[in-house]
Amino acid sequence: MLKISRKDIAAVKTDMAVLFVSENKSLYKGSATADLVKRAKTYPEFDGKAGSELLFYDISGVAAGRVLFCGLGKAKDINSESLRAAAGRAVKKGIGMKLSSIALCVPEVDLPDPEELPSAGPVMEGACLANHCFDHYRGKKEQKPFKKIVICGDSGAGVIDDLASRISLICKGTLLAREWVSMPSNDKRPDLFARSIVKASAKEELKAVVMDDRDMKKNGMHAILAVGAGSSRRPKMVVLEYSPKSWNKSVVLVGKGVTFDSGGINLKPSSGISEMKMDMAGAAAVAATVITAARLNYGCRITGVMPIVENMPSGDATRPGDIVKTYSKKTVEIDNTDAEGRLILADALSYAEKEYKPDMIIDMATLTGACVVALGEKLAGVFSPDEDLSAGIVDSSKRTHERCWNMPLPEDYKKLLKSDFADIKNVSSTRWGGAITAALFLSEFVKTKKWCHIDIAGPAYAAKGGDYAGPGGTGFGVRLLLDFLEGV
Ligand code: BES
Ligand code: MN
Ligand code: ZN
Repeated sequence: MLKISRKDIAAVKTDMAVLFVSENKSLYKGSATADLVKRAKTYPEFDGKAGSELLFYDISGVAAGRVLFCGLGKAKDINSESLRAAAGRAVKKGIGMKLSSIALCVPEVDLPDPEELPSAGPVMEGACLANHCFDHYRGKKEQKPFKKIVICGDSGAGVIDDLASRISLICKGTLLAREWVSMPSNDKRPDLFARSIVKASAKEELKAVVMDDRDMKKNGMHAILAVGAGSSRRPKMVVLEYSPKSWNKSVVLVGKGVTFDSGGINLKPSSGISEMKMDMAGAAAVAATVITAARLNYGCRITGVMPIVENMPSGDATRPGDIVKTYSKKTVEIDNTDAEGRLILADALSYAEKEYKPDMIIDMATLTGACVVALGEKLAGVFSPDEDLSAGIVDSSKRTHERCWNMPLPEDYKKLLKSDFADIKNVSSTRWGGAITAALFLSEFVKTKKWCHIDIAGPAYAAKGGDYAGPGGTGFGVRLLLDFLEGV
């Protein structure tokens, strides 16, 4: 999908060449390119401010049909995310203009963080991620992504080529997760979603196992079964195992896979309920991460555990007040059937820990509206009893701009989960601090300190899309987890 060209931008035959411009500094060494930018800046409507744009047509001496100038603002303010965003906007614009080819010219800037990739990295990433349209359900496909995106940049010795192939794979993983999250729930009932994951993993060196409701009954996973009881489709649990020939560390990733969250008997209000097709975004991110880690030959052993259910009301549905025994043998009073994510994760987490004895467990879940209240729609909440682990996730979040914020796990709040009838209840007795009490509930089902919970209820879905994403699933978490796992 990404093609590297070492030609001068003026010589690249394309529908649209894209140049990046700062307010105060030239970002290109080539004199022809620098001259073009100078000419663009003579127009008062274009000054290189962040987000500003100018389009030239039919420039003599330039092979491209058009040249798009994209403002990045002051040179010192340019960072990976502003490059991702600008590249993404350029690609989206090209798709909107129904062009069939595009070439982006990598600007020469030193990014602020010394750990960061060369500027070609975020340019390729933003371009790749923006080059996607979720249009399977439209009769007429109005906009088509580019078949390939040309990246013009020198940096010899094949560095940029390796970067391009790695970034292509990582973005492909993010887009896979997006597709799953955007897919309507009628096409991803638990059995269908489970099969789709197995199918997507089939070409990689992965072991895929799907547990059905009978297996879960045998294993005593009554929390998952209780959440799925109201649906006409039985729950599944998908386990994807990536095990390279020699590995030192093993990680289990657990992902919440609620294919639709109606709330169950505690039915959700109708406004915005259709967005609850995204309640399997944790499982989508985990599946896409394991598949991509295999493609990239990561060095650690990675197991994805994805409990998949549909939370529906019916005559067979679990009632508020019902008590179930979990895989861990602890009993849970289901005080609210809409707090279903923590129930399926309880079984999945304790199963993952007991069965795989990993060096660490990370779960990802669209767990609480309270986390969205706390951190807004762009940031995920990170909860871990282990400071090194949460710091590692937060570091990855800075590199990938899949932003995470470290949250507390105060021991004394645990009493809010006391039940009069069972070992624990699934909702707190107060509505305050709902993201924290949800995380504390999960903590009751993990013994190791090397556990981290990531609440992605906010960033998993973007109704309006972003600079490098259309409306729908964002694929949040795939780049984050891959970055983190690369360092394990
Ligand atoms: N899937 C929801 C959380 C959610 C909310 C995800 C908004 C994405 C956007 C979760 O299952 C849920 O319903 N949580 C309840 C918990 C409550 C009943 C304690 C919530 O947040 O209201
Ligand atoms: Mn719910
Ligand atoms: Zn839910």
